[in-house]
Amino acid sequence: MVRHLFSTISIRNVELPNRIVMPPMATSLAAEDGKVTPQLIKHYTLRAQASVGLIIIEHAYVSLQGRVSRRQLGIHSDEVIPGMKELTQSIHSAGGKVCLQISHGGSICSKDLIKAQPLGPSSIKHPAGRDIPKEMSREEIKGVVSEFCKAAERAKEAGFDMIEIHGAHGFLLNQFFSPLTNRRSDEYGGSRSSRLRLSIEIIEGIRSAVDEDFPVLFRLGGDDRMYGGLTVDDAHWAALRLVRCGVDVIDLSGGLGGYDGQGQGYFVYLAEAVKPVVDIPVMISGGIRDPHFANSLIEEGKADLVGIGRALLEDPQWAEKAKAELAILQ
Ligand SMILES: Cc1cc2nc3c(=O)[nH]c(=O)nc-3n(C[C@H](O)[C@H](O)[C@H](O)COP(=O)(O)O)c2cc1C
Repeated sequence: MVRHLFSTISIRNVELPNRIVMPPMATSLAAEDGKVTPQLIKHYTLRAQASVGLIIIEHAYVSLQGRVSRRQLGIHSDEVIPGMKELTQSIHSAGGKVCLQISHGGSICSKDLIKAQPLGPSSIKHPAGRDIPKEMSREEIKGVVSEFCKAAERAKEAGFDMIEIHGAHGFLLNQFFSPLTNRRSDEYGGSRSSRLRLSIEIIEGIRSAVDEDFPVLFRLGGDDRMYGGLTVDDAHWAALRLVRCGVDVIDLSGGLGGYDGQGQGYFVYLAEAVKPVVDIPVMISGGIRDPHFANSLIEEGKADLVGIGRALLEDPQWAEKAKAELAILQ
């Protein structure tokens, strides 16, 4: 089969019509209590109607303790399920496939918002945070694993085709994996495998909580882009472990303090390092705007899925226009 931006791809049993993914992007369109609103449904349905192959809905907090901003989407309680069902039904009616990103902000959560001391792997201020977090006890770690599992179960019940675990951009799982924010001396800190343990426990927990055929994506912060932090070598190392414990797609991103970068495809070097060593689809985002550039990443086998973020925020028709521009391929 000829590979290009508009060739189909399957993630477990879910077939995507093309390789264009709207990566998770927080909109602040949820209600104050984390529920779905009509504006939020409209925002995503518009892109689903215009040929985006997969929509990853913005990060939803797995617990109130993991919430990072006002009007952030939540998947922390059964009460949000009816609204989430309306969202997935609307996207499915538009012919789209939909994934939910589930997250915990850990030490980037602010005390003011969550009305409690933020949690973190160690009592070290996050480079992008405001408050000193509380070092999590083993009991609190187990609690977070269970919150992620319940969130995944709710997402499945609400009709999502798949879920994505947020392990990038300085959020809790990135905080555990990064040597800059994790100084623990127990089984969750120290060596690379100990620092990755929480992510592995969450993936394994989710895998046993949802059906075998429900895809689980992992957004890996593969490069902290800070002195002494995670580097591309850690991305390569971690990807192999994530595949072994049942992840279906590695979605690569980076930045302990934020996801932004310079130029088109600024994280492609991560995909080039990871893709040759894994046998599951690899997704890459970061400054990609030109359909020809996106197509070349697929054609040249550098990635299997391409995230088009801000370009899709600016132009909901980006995928439709890309289809016309690359018409020669279809
Ligand atoms: C407004 C905005 C909100 C974002 N929210 C999230 C988020 O909820 N979860 C996440 O993993 N990344 C988030 N990101 C990062 C994007 O998913 C993406 O990785 C980044 O924007 C780079 O891709 P782009 O250059 O195509 O926009 C956000 C980006 C933007 C611009």
